[in-house]
Amino acid sequence: MRTLPVLWIAFGLSAAEPSYFRDVRPVLQRQCQGCHQPNLKSSHLDLATYEGLKAGGTRGPALGLLVKYLTGEMKPQMPLGLPPLPPEQIELIRNWVAAGGNDDTPEEARETVSAGTPTIYFQPPVLTALAFSPDGKMLAVSGNREILLHTLDGSASPRRLPGLSDTVLSLAFSRDGSLLVAGGGTPARFGEIQIWDLPAARLRRSVMLTGDTVFGVSISQDGSRVAAGCTDNTVRIVDTASGKEVGKMGAHENWVLGTVFGVDGKRVVSVGRDRSAKLTDAASGAFQENLNLLRGELAAVARHPSKDMVVVGGEDRIAYVYLMDRPKNMKIADDTTMIRKLERQNGVIAALAWSPDGGRIAVAGAAPEVNVYDAGTGARVTACTGHTAGIYSVAFSPDSATLATGGFDGTVRLYDAATGALKKAFVPVPLEKSASESGGLR
Ligand code: HEC
Repeated sequence: MRTLPVLWIAFGLSAAEPSYFRDVRPVLQRQCQGCHQPNLKSSHLDLATYEGLKAGGTRGPALGLLVKYLTGEMKPQMPLGLPPLPPEQIELIRNWVAAGGNDDTPEEARETVSAGTPTIYFQPPVLTALAFSPDGKMLAVSGNREILLHTLDGSASPRRLPGLSDTVLSLAFSRDGSLLVAGGGTPARFGEIQIWDLPAARLRRSVMLTGDTVFGVSISQDGSRVAAGCTDNTVRIVDTASGKEVGKMGAHENWVLGTVFGVDGKRVVSVGRDRSAKLTDAASGAFQENLNLLRGELAAVARHPSKDMVVVGGEDRIAYVYLMDRPKNMKIADDTTMIRKLERQNGVIAALAWSPDGGRIAVAGAAPEVNVYDAGTGARVTACTGHTAGIYSVAFSPDSATLATGGFDGTVRLYDAATGALKKAFVPVPLEKSASESGGLR
């Protein structure tokens, strides 16, 4: 086969053989698996894996149908409701099918777990996201390739919501509790926003964004919009009902790691590695203005429950409270909107939470402790200790009385938010006994 490219060049053809792994899979993952995946098999077709493609959907094996649906020869044209693929991508897929449509995925890149099935854990996973349901009865926790919904009174075993994304980095409930959104993806392959209907815990939509994990996904208070931070330096705004991207803000100069909507849902504040906090029009995606004076990279943002006031933090270990509106218009980013600065943390800041009663701000990160501050005075109220490593997620319960934390050590801890007393600690996933513990090979 090594001599073939020379022949192809002689015939004026591409030197490279069309490849499923290199050419086709990335297109299907970005453009198609939002609707064609184990959780959401439109027309019974799963395009997240080669096996699914081979097996096909309602109309039988999909290999012969792909190009017809992509060109619109068969209707409705795919990807459904989105712009058609560029002609060169359709051509690549056509060539691959014509060459036999084989799977050339290298052994080392093969999936070890099949998509849509709950993960088996031999050790607690790093916890990257937590969220309380608005009625305070449930805690959503990120797992590997899934979300776990725990009942806080322990009355039922956790529900498991398996998805396509290897990592879930953000979780948020809509205010009425009818939706749970998750943001994440599989690094260097795709980013995904999952929109789950509750209480059924059924995946309503999976929206594929960019070729990399998405960060800092947030939902507007009315549940109509979701915002995500991307590694292509954009903020994407998605309509939750249709799953369509309605806005894209490209004014950041590096990865966007956090987003939050303003109180009325019309604006988004985003923060990122370019050290800036920026305001975006949530309806159009248009950049509005910079909020802050640039210091260190920013990793987290949280909003006051009822005011357009945000707290941001990151690399320089200090959380800053900013107003979203300036007293008067300024041309250059400055600090006229900064109203408070909290004490320096013992490690970089990775997570922030503002209590639903407005009174407290929790700050967490690389240091194994969460500090809780009085949002009005900036004074430290308490410190929650007991973690053995960094903390990536903090959330207040709806009554502001409990603080949930999770991080590198894989244990969820629930603290009394006023005293810092540990109320409960648990590993949120079912753990298998390792081979040595269970007394031999399986
Ligand atoms: C927004 C959701 C959505 C997206 C994105 C999408 N599809 Fe579909 N697809 C559907 C629906 C719904 C049907 C069933 C359409 C019908 O028969 O009326 C379908 C049907 C198909 C079928 C026919 C399967 C069968 O056996 O009936 C193929 C092939 C297909 N899609 C390929 C693709 C490809 C390739 C992409 C990506 C380039 C894609 N789709 C993206 C929703 C989607």
